[in-house]
Formats: sequence, structure tokens, C-alpha cells
Amino acid sequence: MSRYLVAPASHAAGSITVPGDKSISHRALMFGGIASGITEVRGFLDSEDCLATMAAMKALGVNIERPGQREVRVHGVGMRGLHQSLHALDMGNSGTAMRLMTGLLAGQAFDSELIGDSSLMKRPMERVAGPLRQMGARIETLNGKAPVRISGGSRLKGMHYDMPMASAQVKSAVLLGGLYAQGATTVVEPAVTRDHTERMLLGFGCDVSAVRGKITLQPPTELQACSLDVPGDFSSSAFFIVAGCLAARDVLTIRNVGINPTRTGLLDILALMGADLRLVNHRSAGAEPVADIEIRRSDLRGIQVPEELVPLSIDEFPVLFVAAACADGETVVTGAEELRVKESDRIGVMAEGLLAMGIQCEVLKDGIRIQGKPNGPVFSGGRIDSHGDHRIAMSFAVASLRAQAAIEILDVDNVATSFPGFVETAAAAGLGVQFIK
Ligand code: S3P
Repeated sequence: MSRYLVAPASHAAGSITVPGDKSISHRALMFGGIASGITEVRGFLDSEDCLATMAAMKALGVNIERPGQREVRVHGVGMRGLHQSLHALDMGNSGTAMRLMTGLLAGQAFDSELIGDSSLMKRPMERVAGPLRQMGARIETLNGKAPVRISGGSRLKGMHYDMPMASAQVKSAVLLGGLYAQGATTVVEPAVTRDHTERMLLGFGCDVSAVRGKITLQPPTELQACSLDVPGDFSSSAFFIVAGCLAARDVLTIRNVGINPTRTGLLDILALMGADLRLVNHRSAGAEPVADIEIRRSDLRGIQVPEELVPLSIDEFPVLFVAAACADGETVVTGAEELRVKESDRIGVMAEGLLAMGIQCEVLKDGIRIQGKPNGPVFSGGRIDSHGDHRIAMSFAVASLRAQAAIEILDVDNVATSFPGFVETAAAAGLGVQFIK
């Protein structure tokens, strides 16, 4: 089994970039695939998750060229131009790919089947199948999980959907179904979630409006291809934001990061904990705001994390827990039950790792309570099982900045699902991560 051996490090420093945004890269392939004309994408994330979406769109008849590693040219086939795949579509480890593709395929004329790896086959899919069925789709799941079987030829009707959980994937799947429905589709979200779907659909010429958590889409006759620049993924930058808070020598800079406010809850949480974070060089990449992030070392203090920030930092909790372990006092997270159905149960798996590293913590049904140790080496070192979850693996690599001894992290192949080149980027920032096959 692949693993990381991470040597204790004392400083993080330098100026780095992180790979392109995963959420935006998935959507660029899907929307570009059903648009009319050629969509050019620069800054594309060539990670396993996005390559699973690319393979699926190709299997559905879309020609996709790769003029460069991070450049993609999608030859859109138009809204009615997809054709049936000859095989089940394998979405690998990616919940986003499976859920959004379910929405996209619900309104097609042909049948489809979606499968994934052992982690994805355990994740809940009724959260998208249910509302799409209410729109008229015919979708079967197996005990609520994949394989997801979608029968073609259903006539979808737009609907008003009060979403029971704060999920951008569910919102996006319903809106994708809505592209093919008769009449408008409205999704009301219980809390703000990432809005890349809405921003990007607008760029493709679709009539989408969002007013106070109520998103309404009018079905278009066509989407118009466009050009997209994908900014660096805030969620990948999060590991280095926390690294900088724990151990920046002078300043650690992360350049060209997407700072869409529906993604940057971690900045607000860390600011409440006393972090010194500065956004500079503001600009935009199409519909998305971008900046460079400067991080200075700071003495963090434990807080109760405001629940409204949870959906805005949903992928950042594993590394936030590492920051909390190094803070003065107790940090409490509640209202975060969604963490239990991510690539792993991120509350249980992080608690197991923190306890193994000598950190006191208590698992709550919807969160965690962590007792921070503000001084000296906080983590004992030793062995951690990432349970194949990329963000758990990268989070414990950051813990090496406050570790007494080396940290061995098991089962790290899935880091490639979101962050190709993590070891090299970590090295550029001063971390000593060795990949052992
Ligand atoms: C994503 C939405 C989030 C996030 C995932 C990517 C997206 O999931 O955890 O990594 O691209 O829409 P939920 O919306 O289910 O919380």
C-alpha cells in the first residue's frame, strides 16, 4: 500500500501555486460537452476525479482535446447531442462527478449506468435520485447507493425543490436536470453552498438567477460555448494556509487562488482563531474572483466554529482540525454531519488520527471537540491510516510542522484525485513528504 513518510519540519516558506479548481474543472467538461461550439479551458485540473468526468463525457460522444496538460478543448455536441455509452460510466472516487452526471443524464433519451470505486459505491445517492425522480426521471439505486441506473426517454418537469441539506452537489444535479425540463426549476438552499454551477451556467448563456438562497433556472434551447480560466483550488490551498499559520517563516504566499466567497469559510474561521491572513492582488478569472493569499505565523486560539460557516468550508475540516490541535484552548465544531458521508467519515477518521498522535478529542454526532496544545511539538508522530481519503492524508502531512517525530501516512494514492504534484508543492513550501509506493 502506498504511503507518505513525513519528516518533522520547522518552517513553511516561499511562494507557491496549487493546481486548478476541481469543482470548476468538472463543470467545465460537463457544460462544455452539451454546449454548442468549442469550449476552451485553461488551468484545468488534470486529477483523477476530473479525468473520470472527462472519460465519461468522451464515452457519451464528446470529443475532448488536450493541447497541453492543463488545457482542454471541449467540442460541444449541443444539448441533445450526447449518445449512449457502450459501458457503465466509472466515476472513480468522485461524488461530484457521480451526482452531477446523474442530473445531466436524467433528461437524456438513452439509458446510463454510473459506478465508482469502493468509497464512492458506499456514498448516498438518493439525495440526487429522489428530487430528480420528482421531476419525472426514472432512476434506480441499490439501497440508496451506486450503481445508479438511469432510464432514458423521461420527460422532466421543472419543479420547486426545498433542499433538505446544504449541498452544492444536490443543487447542481437538480439544476442540470432542470436544463432538460419543461418549465422553470427552483432550488431553495437551507444555507449558502458553493455557486460555481450558477456562475458558469450564466457564462454559457443560461438564464439562472439567485436571490437569497433561491436559485431559479429557465431551461435554455442551447448553451453557448465559452472560454474559461480555472483558478487555483482554494481547497488545495487550504493545506498551505494552515501550514503557514503554524510555521510560516516570514510569509508564505499562495498565488492565483479562487476566492469565491462560497468557498472561503476557512479564512473566516482561521481569522476568528487569530490568524494573520491577507488577500492581495485581487482580480477575476471570468465569473470567479481570484487573489494571492499571504499567510504569516500566528498563535491560534480555540473557538466554537459558527455553524453558518460549515457549508462554506466543508472540504477544509480535516486540515482545520490539525490547526485546532495546535490552538490554545478548545475548538468545537457542530452542525457538520455532512462530514460523515465524504470520501471517508471525516469526523471518525480524523479523530482516530488525532488520538493516535496524542491529541485529546471527543467525537460528537455532528462534529468534534478538540483540545489544543499551543506550545512545542504538538503531534507525537507515528502511523496514521488515511482510509484512502486524499484530504486526510494531506492534513496529516501538514501536522509534520508541529511533530516530535516522523509521521507515516498510509493509503495515499487518492491524493492524485484532487492534488497531483502535492509532494513537490509541499517540498517547495518546506515540508519533507516522501512518497513510498
Ligand atoms: C462539491 C460540493 C461539496 C464538496 C465536494 C465538491 C461540488 O459537496 O464537498 O468536494 O463540486 O459541488 P456537497 O455539496 O455534497 O457538500
